[in-house]
Amino acid sequence: MRKIIDFNTNWSFHKKWSDKLIESFLENENITIPHISEEIPIRYFDEKKTYIVSGYQNIIKYSEEFKNKRVIVNFEGVSSVSEVFINSKKIKEHFCGFTPFNLDITNYLKNGDNLITVKVDSRERKDTPPFGGSIDYLCYGGIYRECYIEVVNDISVENLMLMGTANKEVHGKITLRNSAKKTDNVCVSLMVFDKDKKIHISEVNINLKGSLFEEAQVLIDLNNYDIKLWDIESPKLYIVKAVIKDKNYEDEKKVRIGFRDALFTEEGFFLNGKKLLLRGLNRHQSFPYYGYAMPERAQKKDADILKYDLSLNIVRCSHYPQSKHFLDRCDEIGLLVFEELPGWQHIGDKKWQERSVQNVHDMIVSHYHHPSIIIWGVRINESSDSHDFYKKTNAVARSLDKIRQTGGVRYNEGSEFLEDVYTINDFYHNGVTEGIRSQKQVTRLDKSVPYMITEYNGHMFPTKIYDDEPHQHEHSLRHYRVINSIALDKKISGSTGWCAFDYNTHFEYGSGDRICYHGVYDIFRNPKFAASCYASQTEPSKKVVLDVHTYWVRGDRPVGGFLPLLISTNCDYIELYFGKKMLIKAYPSTNKFQGLKYPPVYIESIAQFDTLKWEGGKVFGYINGKKVIEKYFSKEVIFADLLLTADDTKIKSVKNGSAWDTTRVTVKAIDSVGNRLPYMNAVIEIDLNGGGVLIGDDKVSLEGGIYSFWVKSTEEKKPIEITIKTKRMKDKKIVIDVE
Ligand code: GAL
Repeated sequence: MRKIIDFNTNWSFHKKWSDKLIESFLENENITIPHISEEIPIRYFDEKKTYIVSGYQNIIKYSEEFKNKRVIVNFEGVSSVSEVFINSKKIKEHFCGFTPFNLDITNYLKNGDNLITVKVDSRERKDTPPFGGSIDYLCYGGIYRECYIEVVNDISVENLMLMGTANKEVHGKITLRNSAKKTDNVCVSLMVFDKDKKIHISEVNINLKGSLFEEAQVLIDLNNYDIKLWDIESPKLYIVKAVIKDKNYEDEKKVRIGFRDALFTEEGFFLNGKKLLLRGLNRHQSFPYYGYAMPERAQKKDADILKYDLSLNIVRCSHYPQSKHFLDRCDEIGLLVFEELPGWQHIGDKKWQERSVQNVHDMIVSHYHHPSIIIWGVRINESSDSHDFYKKTNAVARSLDKIRQTGGVRYNEGSEFLEDVYTINDFYHNGVTEGIRSQKQVTRLDKSVPYMITEYNGHMFPTKIYDDEPHQHEHSLRHYRVINSIALDKKISGSTGWCAFDYNTHFEYGSGDRICYHGVYDIFRNPKFAASCYASQTEPSKKVVLDVHTYWVRGDRPVGGFLPLLISTNCDYIELYFGKKMLIKAYPSTNKFQGLKYPPVYIESIAQFDTLKWEGGKVFGYINGKKVIEKYFSKEVIFADLLLTADDTKIKSVKNGSAWDTTRVTVKAIDSVGNRLPYMNAVIEIDLNGGGVLIGDDKVSLEGGIYSFWVKSTEEKKPIEITIKTKRMKDKKIVIDVE
């Protein structure tokens, strides 16, 4: 059987590359993967400092287990260009920072210590996508996703490109690695499991012809079984295990699939034959300080935020293939995914284009099995038409995946339509104009086509979590207006707005401080008011939402007061009290937002509001005449407490070569009724003891009354004790267990 060895610890990191690193192991900074080659401050840094060539070294000790086996090293993600050397011999180059790659090192191994050196070029090289032009995001650098070693037989299962369809069939292909380039006949058993229960077994015979990789088509008919479909409400998953029983080549590899049909049509999007309006946001995979180098738990948490906190049904992986952990979580929770090749506006020369076509190939080969992925983006985000290039990217996608449709994100009206779905960024809404353009104006085609809007808002109205109330109010309204317009268009498949989380960027973009404040969440994953425009579009049976878009103060808006007042809710109506007096009973603004199932309550004015003596407030939400939720506001807002919370009570220590683990800790300044104090930008000191390391600075100021940081586990199995110190309070403590 195969053996999998985690290979994330004891890497010797050299920020400055030297050819000497190819020759011998040089002890230096000992790091655990995921790793960023140049950690960045949150703001006002010089991104050129990340354009470095660095080196990572490790030792692979020859083990008895390697005897008569093949040893294959896997890298899930290295930004951006890597060269890998084993015992001084270069055996691999990879030209993409977002796709996984592997290398068979068997023939280069010797007894004793074997040196592996990875030269990591993070210089934004013009010959490698997404680089060559300027880009509104950073690609950082380093071995930022996990590494592992597979020890397998001469013939092994390399890849299972399998997926289930709603007619209960499994389609795809199996690829064997025929390391010794044999000609032989291998029988692979394919077993389908529902949890631990084996429900089906069939066989594929593969005639090896002496090539390194050999493929066989797979079609498993499961019509006689009680197969449950995968969908966003009940994302049922199955496991397919491929087993080679032959004594000489015993092997086993598994993949998780779901059975579903996803189809973009002229009449909208259909999941398992049922129409579904796609509503989502774009996600960059970057985090403060460590950029892309965040492990499994942080990746999965992002998916949870999108699905559970924001009630979205789709995410666009802008603008590159993302972590398998993120995608795994999307599969598990039923969050649909639009995944695309790396790029941003720029198309390079022939070589560059070849690499880009290769990226489409690698993205599909590695992520094919994810039921959550419903479309492949095969155009460079917002690039101009490029007939021959895009003919190729479409052809590669279609030859590898006969089931999923292609899209490709453009921003020019009337751009050539080579894909299956016309996907466009529509930044038409500017606060005054309509929410979106008409499909025909955009496509300039004389018929309707499968159509989706892949971005809106974003740079049209950057908003910081600490912006004042009028700004937040307009930010929310813009999101409402656009999603409302989209919902009114009965032919559109849906949208992914720009964007989920604020992100670090190049100097040409964003607010100059290297942040694009385009998220409905800030860079620490804390919500702005606009987040509740999405969160409130959920069934109250799942979650009752009542978010009042105000700080309830007299003078944060021009002239004063908090009107017009926007309330994101899925309640039938609300009651608003000023002190003890009920000022208004108000219903969702169905007139203004006719497309939305849960329009916001919009209170334009309240008679004689200006004349009232200032009071605290209460807002109650009612469903079927019953009060189901209450929100309170202080009359006199006074700092009362620092709320300290962690996303997880327990994380894992680093052991046996595993990656490090993490969780996020949030510090929030609140008043006596628990409301965030948006202008409380107090300085806090973060003190950390035990088995963890703080990511980022230990003296920071709250931003908009809130700040989050991540802690990173180490090999020490001690609880992590975190103390927050601030002038106006006694110290606050929280402990995270380490297992
Ligand atoms: C789009 C682009 C995104 C982001 C966004 C900001 O043009 O595709 O990557 O830059 O603008 O609104």
